[in-house]
Amino acid sequence: MASKKRSAPYTVPRLKDFSAPALDKAAEKLLAALHDESSRIKNEADWKTFRDRWMARSNGILTQINNLWLKAAPKEVKPQVGQRVNEIKDKVEDEIQDTELDLIRIQQEQLSSSSYVKAADHLDITLPGIRRPLGAEHPVIKTTNELVAVFRNLGYSVQEGPVIETDYYNFESLNFPPNHPARDTQDTLFVARQESKPLRDRLLLRTHTSPVQIRTMERMKPPLRIVIPGKVHRNDPPDATHSPMFHQIEGLAVDSNITFGDLKGTLDHAMRMFFGSSVKTSFRPSFFPFTEPSAEMMVSCFICGGSGKRGSEPCRPCKQTGWIEILGCGMVDPSVFDFVKDNGYDPQKISGFAFGMGADRIALLKYGVDDIQLFFNGDVRFLEQFE
Ligand code: PHE
Repeated sequence: MASKKRSAPYTVPRLKDFSAPALDKAAEKLLAALHDESSRIKNEADWKTFRDRWMARSNGILTQINNLWLKAAPKEVKPQVGQRVNEIKDKVEDEIQDTELDLIRIQQEQLSSSSYVKAADHLDITLPGIRRPLGAEHPVIKTTNELVAVFRNLGYSVQEGPVIETDYYNFESLNFPPNHPARDTQDTLFVARQESKPLRDRLLLRTHTSPVQIRTMERMKPPLRIVIPGKVHRNDPPDATHSPMFHQIEGLAVDSNITFGDLKGTLDHAMRMFFGSSVKTSFRPSFFPFTEPSAEMMVSCFICGGSGKRGSEPCRPCKQTGWIEILGCGMVDPSVFDFVKDNGYDPQKISGFAFGMGADRIALLKYGVDDIQLFFNGDVRFLEQFE
């Protein structure tokens, strides 16, 4: 039918002859037009036009044959004409439904031949997935987190501060006056071209986490219990035990009636939580400008158990002394509180202790690593051992 030359659109004729052969002829012509039109449908819009032309209630072809054929038929042939019109109606409705189904099928075929669905056809969901290596915590970060957790469990909160610091916070407010020789104990990396600024505003890479003590006391009133992890820098040439960049964990507790006994008890507890309950602590006098009195704390060597020997060999980590130096500490110097007196830190009323330890050094000891450089030169063969 589709090959048939297109003729003028079909119109419903008025019938004069209602005999069976005449009806046959009229019905044949009508159905031929129906098939011809349906074979030309290419898309949904075509189909809608087709449907409306045949089915529209107002003046569709079905309505027209109802009017022009059935209603116009003489009474005596009405039943036969009615039967014929009903047959035609059924055929038209079927044709419209079939063409709609054809259209849906064509659309689905087009969809399934699209590249997206084709790719899915070729996807083998039984193949194993791509295994991406899981990262692991760096040993220094792991050590830091473990130590911070010990203090958090004691009620300490975590504070942080900037790595690029001013002279004021890194030195002056911690009781290192300008040109004081105590500054020489911390080989400092200074930011260039700061000479035009007043000394206290000049920038440097912080040499310890202690400036965060002052920064926090400026913001928070006593009582205070804080732990401060962070990166620090010193102008030390790298070797097995030194790195120009390393990590510290600082602590500060301020309240009324804090004593050196509290300092000792707190640190003793923390060391036993971290290294194991058999370690002992020992304190010996030291000096820091911002603590008075100051001390260095040692823990009994957890490698040789304090004997200084491993079998017949000397114990290297403790240099045969049975003790390992772990941190610096002391009671907060009243002259440090003077810098934050306005925020409630009256040295007549409150006291406190502070401590600071090297996270890298502790990680070296804990994992038995003999070169601090291994922590920072990014060799995965080394780091993979800590997964
Ligand atoms: N900030 C000191 C240092 O880096 C350590 C320290 C901290 C000492 C707090 C006493 C109290 O060497």
